[in-house]
Amino acid sequence: MSKALINTFSKKLIAWHGVSGRSGLPWQNNRDPYAVWVSEIMLQQTQVATVLERYPRFMKRFPTVKKLASADIDEVLAEWAGLGYYTRARNLHACAQQVVTEFDGTFPSDPVLLEGLKGIGRSTAGAIAAFAFHQRAPILDANVKRILARLFAISGAPQDRAVNDLLWSLADELLPKNPKEMPIYTQALMDFGATWCTSRKPVCLSGEQKCPFASGCQANLSDQALLFPQKVVKAKSPEFDCNMLLMRYGNAVLLQKRPDKAIWGGLWSLPESAWSPKNTGVISSDIDLKDLCAVALPHEKSVTVTRSCKVVQKIAEIKHVFTHRRLWMHIWQVYASKELVFSDSNLRWVSLSQLGRYGLPQPIKILLQGLSLVRDDDLKN
Ligand code: ADE
Repeated sequence: MSKALINTFSKKLIAWHGVSGRSGLPWQNNRDPYAVWVSEIMLQQTQVATVLERYPRFMKRFPTVKKLASADIDEVLAEWAGLGYYTRARNLHACAQQVVTEFDGTFPSDPVLLEGLKGIGRSTAGAIAAFAFHQRAPILDANVKRILARLFAISGAPQDRAVNDLLWSLADELLPKNPKEMPIYTQALMDFGATWCTSRKPVCLSGEQKCPFASGCQANLSDQALLFPQKVVKAKSPEFDCNMLLMRYGNAVLLQKRPDKAIWGGLWSLPESAWSPKNTGVISSDIDLKDLCAVALPHEKSVTVTRSCKVVQKIAEIKHVFTHRRLWMHIWQVYASKELVFSDSNLRWVSLSQLGRYGLPQPIKILLQGLSLVRDDDLKN
């Protein structure tokens, strides 16, 4: 490893941030650990532009860790709706309760203790410790892995245990000596990865020769920036089909609360059949009402349901891509002639004007909007 690069890295990076980094974002220059933590969780898998819109709203609704801890999980999920990766919202709620019960409502400053909290991984713990407590704790998210893999031309994929360990020790070695510089350094590292040392168009390939690390970066010196970080070859994720029931009665739709541990756990969705591997003959262009109710409402008496319903029509096929699988949702619309009462307490008739109070999976929200069943305003509260 180049000692010269290691010794000068943090100074050069901080200088770079002064000229080209991002500033003025609402979560910056804030040492309140609660505010830092919420912003870091929200920024994990959501674009800065979206967070700029949603973060102030979230903070207004849940201004302190105590307010968040005592809120109903449904309220938190509804506020999170549209941001995706809902495990983050459930973890946020659980973590707030942990901070209140185990730490008397005050976030710990030690990154090891932070990492013990729900939903906080090692890198996020480092970011919170650096931003809120000026701790010399490294971060290592995907952007930082890319920067380091390029600077030091690291062989092997970052998913590999030994490579990951090496990257963490480099991240540690590169930290500024002065703890006061930790917030600006950490922000600079994030910004440099997000805007200059990007995955597909790093500035070193733009021909402008402006990267402050150009003369020390091993990948740049060998003209191989795009080859780092090295990749593992991924198999295509499996595809599934499922039937979904869009049952309507007057001004209401039938929603079902999803089990906590399932995909979209805790959100309100349409009743659905079990998923079957794609194209294994379970999905057809036509479906019998009795069969549909049997698979989507298995705990209900299908005779009662079918007697009170009419018209089954396939109104949409929606493909949704999850991290590890792809799902084709076949949406069947059915009209009930009375407000059926169900034995499953997770089933609920929800009138259109009340939908904004429910956390809905994004494709279901879009579906209901597309059918003009819901106005955007209804879902914004
Ligand atoms: N991604 C994660 N944390 C971030 C931050 N503090 N600023 C910009 N992007 C981020």
